[in-house]
Amino acid sequence: MKEVGIGIAGFGTVGGGVLSILRSHAREIEARLGARIVVRRVAVRDPEKERAIDLDRSLLTTRYQDLVEDPTVQVVVELVGGTTEARSLVLAALGAGKHVVTANKALLAFHGDEIFRLAQEKGVDVYYEGAVAGGVPVIRTLREALASDRIQAIHGIVNGTTNFILTSMAEKGEPLEKALAEAQRLGYAEADPTLDVSGGDAAQKLCLLAQLAFGARLAPQDVLTEGIMGLLPEDFAWAKEFGYALKLLAVARRSGPNGGDGLIEARVHPAFIPGDSMLAGVRGAMNAVLLRSEALGPTLLFGQGAGAMPTGSAVVADIIDLSRNLLSGSPGRVPLPPAASLVRLRSHAEIRTGYYLRFSVKDAPGVLARIAATLARHGISIAAVQQREHEEEGAPVPLVIVTHQAREADLRSAIGEIDAYDTTAAPTRLIRIEQV
Ligand SMILES: NC(=O)c1ccc[n+]([C@@H]2O[C@H](COP(=O)([O-])OP(=O)(O)OC[C@H]3O[C@@H](n4cnc5c(N)ncnc54)[C@H](OP(=O)(O)O)[C@@H]3O)[C@@H](O)[C@H]2O)c1
Repeated sequence: MKEVGIGIAGFGTVGGGVLSILRSHAREIEARLGARIVVRRVAVRDPEKERAIDLDRSLLTTRYQDLVEDPTVQVVVELVGGTTEARSLVLAALGAGKHVVTANKALLAFHGDEIFRLAQEKGVDVYYEGAVAGGVPVIRTLREALASDRIQAIHGIVNGTTNFILTSMAEKGEPLEKALAEAQRLGYAEADPTLDVSGGDAAQKLCLLAQLAFGARLAPQDVLTEGIMGLLPEDFAWAKEFGYALKLLAVARRSGPNGGDGLIEARVHPAFIPGDSMLAGVRGAMNAVLLRSEALGPTLLFGQGAGAMPTGSAVVADIIDLSRNLLSGSPGRVPLPPAASLVRLRSHAEIRTGYYLRFSVKDAPGVLARIAATLARHGISIAAVQQREHEEEGAPVPLVIVTHQAREADLRSAIGEIDAYDTTAAPTRLIRIEQV
């Protein structure tokens, strides 16, 4: 039987899942590939550490260069994480003419240009299904199944940590801090959850999706990114009252009057979405990506966005795909994303969505009329208004306005004016409304 030699850097959560799947599904993999995948080296930081899976200790090395220098390793699997050592390892592997599989979204979001350029130069492949939405095969769907189509929009719930937190807040009425602590206790959130709750992780993933879908070359800092930390239990109550669910969405879409004038929007932020939308039912730590394409229409991909076995399954599928290319003498069968961006980013100020606005105002005559007049002066029309009674005499009252679609810049100017009124008690909260 033919063999494909691989070297794995990283024997942590995902590395363990990969080794476990390669072992337990070996027979099926051999049948589907017509060859055996053989693990030649495994690089770790600490060779003495207890591992969940038994492995021949002689395969372990603390030098990732051993993978690169080993002539029997054809595919290097990078599961180390971070952007420093992972970058050196991947560039060294590509430089040596080896194919690369990685699950590292940060590495590709920040250094994708350099990595893809070198891979093209060397005529080798870089596969990265595990980098977005874990086990959910969204990269392969965009790259292959929808190669015939023209993607119009991507709406994703691509961060399980924040979706878990928002689900707890929506279903149990919990404050964010409590839901976050519970997520940490259950292992859905890291001790330092900043990258997840800030929306940064979702923005990195969105860059990779927008690149495949639209040929966009975006850096994470180009994406309009707002996290979940300002959300309050009452936002969920209001969402329900208006028939919405509240989710952290990653959105990339062609933008313009005719469904795209060469511009795209790229944004990650909490959003009200219709309660009967397919994404509204994505609960807990699950991920989902809703693709809209010209010919096919909507496609929903749903599944586990993290964890050893789900992510391991995506990584092993990449190893198999790459091995097929190798065995059939067709590396580079699927070209890497183009070096130059095919689209430009629409300025965030020009984005148009509906808005939920939560004002905190003094309970005085004429306050609502003045806010409505200010919004109207900026061309913003109101779809619904709700006001609660104050809980104690003299305390500010919440006033909620839902708007029709408006231009972000106009909305920001109006809010700036309203927040300066002496009848406004606290900065106005804004959540975008997305029709998905
Ligand atoms: N965890 C998930 O659910 C998930 C989902 C999707 C994508 N990813 C991505 O997958 C990658 C790996 O994540 P993970 O959760 O598996 O990380 P992890 O559990 O922290 O494992 C990292 C592994 O890399 C090894 N390592 C670190 N520095 C090294 C070096 N210089 N040389 C050799 N080995 C080194 C560590 O060795 P020791 O074991 O000896 O410390 C460890 O085995 C990351 O890019 C992550 O973003 C993870």
